[in-house]
Amino acid sequence: MMAVCTRACRVKIEMLFTFISFFVFISIQGVASKGCEIPPVVRGTWFYRENGEYHTTEINGDSMTGRGNCLSSHHSHHVNYTFVFLDEQTTCYHCVKFIVRTVNILDKVESGCKTLRDKSPSLNSICEGINPDQQLISLFAENFVPVNCRSGLEGVWQFAYQNRFRFTGECSHPGNVIQSCQTPGSQFLITNQKFTISYRKCDGMSESLDGTVEFSCLGDWFVGKNHYFAVANTKESRKDEKFRCFLKNRDDDEYMGKSITPECNTLKSPEDSPERYRMTPVKSETVTPGCNLPLNFSGHWINTANIDADVYINQTHIVETWHPDIGRSRKTVYVCKESRDSRILLTRLNVDGCQKDYICYDIVPRHHNIIRYRKGLAMIKDDFHTVCSWTQFPAKNAWKYDLFLGMQSVLGSQVESLEDVFKQILFTILKLNCTNCRRSLLPEGRDGTSVLYV
Ligand SMILES: *[C@@H]1O[C@H](CO)[C@@H](O)[C@H](O)[C@H]1NC(C)=O
Ligand SMILES: *[C@@H]1O[C@H](CO)[C@@H](O)[C@H](O)[C@H]1NC(C)=O
Ligand SMILES: *[C@@H]1O[C@H](CO)[C@@H](O)[C@H](O)[C@H]1NC(C)=O
Ligand SMILES: *[C@@H]1O[C@H](CO)[C@@H](O)[C@H](O)[C@H]1NC(C)=O
Repeated sequence: MMAVCTRACRVKIEMLFTFISFFVFISIQGVASKGCEIPPVVRGTWFYRENGEYHTTEINGDSMTGRGNCLSSHHSHHVNYTFVFLDEQTTCYHCVKFIVRTVNILDKVESGCKTLRDKSPSLNSICEGINPDQQLISLFAENFVPVNCRSGLEGVWQFAYQNRFRFTGECSHPGNVIQSCQTPGSQFLITNQKFTISYRKCDGMSESLDGTVEFSCLGDWFVGKNHYFAVANTKESRKDEKFRCFLKNRDDDEYMGKSITPECNTLKSPEDSPERYRMTPVKSETVTPGCNLPLNFSGHWINTANIDADVYINQTHIVETWHPDIGRSRKTVYVCKESRDSRILLTRLNVDGCQKDYICYDIVPRHHNIIRYRKGLAMIKDDFHTVCSWTQFPAKNAWKYDLFLGMQSVLGSQVESLEDVFKQILFTILKLNCTNCRRSLLPEGRDGTSVLYV
């Protein structure tokens, strides 16, 4: 008996054919979805605003909300990822490019729906229409992992701000303060993953803000000279009010820009941003030295525990300068406060305006061109017995000492740059020819040191 094929049946058979030809097709093209695994760094639930509308999108190992299943992918340097998705309901192909900015932020640019009849769906044919100058859309991770604020913003500022969408003029009040400081001894704790902005109402500007806002840091990145960092308001549950983007610029330390939506592409320059902060750094108090460092410590050194660091020592001060990124440098100043036996209590002056703290160095007398030392935990108290207690330096023999190496030391001649000194050290100590070494562009390792790739 012959089966009578109803309309529904025919549709089913057609679908089956489409399905089969689809598989034949893609296997011929060699872009079977098996070869398209979306990496963990791109997966997650993401919130973003595009063309004035808010979206929540889910990306898992092989698909993306509203874009379909992943057919093929391409990535460069684990930073830029390009995917071709096929939405089987709409038969749309989508090319979606992601730039991984931080663990919590992706920038995205898309081709939109592409229907292809005759063409073969190669990555290039679907992605070729993407305009390289198209606006990037920033995606914020809903389940974000706060990161240390240090590379985004560090210090204390008094500020005046304007937000032409709320009020006219600039609200300047002595109580307007941005505070982003590292809390000593708690490098890994949540305190260093947040900063606050305190706003005070300005006369005649009823729409100016009043109160303190606390932000979690979601990471920072550079685009040319523009230094972006993204945040989440810790007290805000509405997603459209929670996520914001800030912009600073290497050539402009007076202004900082902030978005008033969960977007980064509204920030073109710090001065021309929806919300603009005019910043005045709060100066640190001066500290009078209370002791002298050994005379033969004076000079220029490099700190091997902090590879990029250039160390200058005179009778009372240790000044450490390093470069967490191209074009940026940081400085920490230590002032001799009290010394006994091999231990020296130092006052650590961090970034301007942040609270000073105290740290103890246990130093071995200079030997040739090497200073060996070990460092205790930083504390807020300035009491020698607490900060320099031997319990701070357990297991003396097992301890790996950090080193300051004399700039003049290696190979016995004066050298031009830290880079050269470092290469010479690698060569003489590790027998490594380091012509091709490069400094990592990553901000900092977990322990605050830079990473060097050899
Ligand atoms: C990633 O894409 C951006 C924007 O298209 C480009 O400027 C950058 O050079 C790319 N980076 C890598 C590592 O391919
Ligand atoms: C030591 O260096 C510090 C920082 O550069 C400086 O302020 C201080 O005056 C110097 N002290 C002496 C004795 O040269
Ligand atoms: C530096 O001075 C200390 C005494 O303050 C001495 O023990 C040490 O041998 C000296 N080191 C060098 C290399 O001169
Ligand atoms: C390191 O390697 C480069 C290139 O291979 C070579 O030109 C250079 O002389 C080497 N440096 C040393 C110190 O051996």
